[in-house]
Amino acid sequence: MTDLRYIREEYRKDELSKAKADQDPIRQFDNWMKEALEAQLLHPTAMTLSTCGKDRRPSSRIVLLKDIDEKGFVFYTNYLSRKGREIIENPFAALLFFWNELERQVRIEGSIEKAEADQADVYFASRPLKSRISAAISEQSSEVPSRKYLENRFQEFRDLHPVDFERPEFWGAYRLIPAYFEFWQGREDRLHDRIAYELKNQDAWSMKRLAP
Ligand SMILES: Cc1cc2nc3c(=O)[nH]c(=O)nc-3n(C[C@H](O)[C@H](O)[C@H](O)COP(=O)(O)O)c2cc1C
Repeated sequence: MTDLRYIREEYRKDELSKAKADQDPIRQFDNWMKEALEAQLLHPTAMTLSTCGKDRRPSSRIVLLKDIDEKGFVFYTNYLSRKGREIIENPFAALLFFWNELERQVRIEGSIEKAEADQADVYFASRPLKSRISAAISEQSSEVPSRKYLENRFQEFRDLHPVDFERPEFWGAYRLIPAYFEFWQGREDRLHDRIAYELKNQDAWSMKRLAP
C-alpha cells in the first residue's frame, strides 16, 4: 500500500479571529465563498452533505450549493434518493466545504426542509435539456441493470419529449437551515484558527474560538 504517513503540509496563507470574522456567520460564509470564487478554485460550491437516517448510520456525498438566502443553504436533488429518504427520517444534517488552496474548511449543521416548488421550477428550467432528461429518468440511488439501461431510458424519454417538459415532482430543492457554523483556517505548526457560531435564539449568534 502507498505510504501516506509522511505527507505533510504547512498552512500559512491567512488567519482568522473573533475580531476579524463577521458577527453574522452567513455573511462570513459569503465573504469566504467570494474569496473561493475569486481564487478560481475548482468546484468551490461543492459541499459534502452528511445525513443520518433512523438506522443511525451516517452517509455522505457531494452536492452543489446553488443558493444562499436569509433562511439557509439550497441544493437540488432527487427527493426519493438515499439522502432524500434519510432526510425524511431525520432532518438534521451537516454540510462541509473544503477549500484546499485557501487552507480553509467550513462546517455547517442544521435541519433540512424542502424549499419552495417555484424556486425548483425556475432552476430546473434553466438547466441544459440533457441534464434535465438525466434527472427525469434517474431513479437516483436505486440499482440499475446496466449503463445501457440508463442510455435507453434517456433516449426513450428524449423521443417522447423532444422540446420541453415540466420538472418531475421527485426532483427539487432542499434548504439546510443553519444552527451551527465553524470556520477553520489552517495555521503554522498546526495551531489552527477555529471560530464557531451557535444560534442562541431567533437571530442571535454567539461566537467562540475552539482549540485546534
Ligand atoms: C462534484 C459533484 C457534484 C455533485 N452535485 C450533485 C448535486 O448537486 N445533486 C445531487 O443530487 N447529486 C450530486 N452529485 C452526486 C452525489 O454525490 C450522489 O452521488 C448522488 O446525489 C446520490 O447520493 P445518495 O445516493 O446518497 O442520495 C454530485 C457529485 C459530485 C462529485
